[in-house]
Amino acid sequence: MEVLYVIRRAKLEDMEKVMEINKKELPENYSSDFFYEMLNTYGDFFFVAELKGDIVGYVMSRIETSFSFSSSPPFFLRGHVVSLAVSSGFRRMGIGFSLMRTSHEEMKKHGVKEVYLEVRVDNDPAISLYKKLGYSIVRKIPYYYADGTDAYMMSLKL
Ligand SMILES: CC(C)(COP(=O)(O)OP(=O)(O)OC[C@H]1O[C@@H](n2cnc3c(N)ncnc32)[C@H](O)[C@@H]1OP(=O)(O)O)[C@@H](O)C(=O)NCCC(=O)NCCS
Repeated sequence: MEVLYVIRRAKLEDMEKVMEINKKELPENYSSDFFYEMLNTYGDFFFVAELKGDIVGYVMSRIETSFSFSSSPPFFLRGHVVSLAVSSGFRRMGIGFSLMRTSHEEMKKHGVKEVYLEVRVDNDPAISLYKKLGYSIVRKIPYYYADGTDAYMMSLKL
């Protein structure tokens, strides 16, 4: 059976549901101010998945300016995927993949050349998703998370 969902930009009225999904599905939670600020400042890169009128997933990302002596010009834009989650009843339907792809396409339109993220080293579903999208592991960041778990930094050239 085909499950129809749409990926669209997040709106103010989606935020309660987004925060609910974040609390339920991820150990990394943020203040409501942070979500509203992400929406205000980086709303172009904040997407939700809607299925039968309900929000079942979200991705929020921001754009950062990076500097490198070895690149020309030395300043370039990097996308940072800050948070991604799909409600547990709606996984393995391609929603996470579609949210990420949509976010990448939008970042590319804004001149982003590279996107990166952090993921728990034991989060096999997420690591598999990122590898399927073409990400590779850049390095391990020891004790990155509040509970002491290490992170992988992963990146993708857009
Ligand atoms: C990670 C997460 C967002 C994936 O969302 P999803 O909608 O289920 O992912 P998709 O259906 O788009 O999966 C795309 C691909 O990712 C990989 N993948 C996803 N879930 C997987 C799992 N449980 N085991 C192995 N591979 C998995 C597969 O390659 C899959 O392709 P396939 O179904 O054709 O095999 C979801 O599991 C989730 O919300 N987890 C909790 C929150 C979280 O960990 N967020 C990421 C923090 S960095």
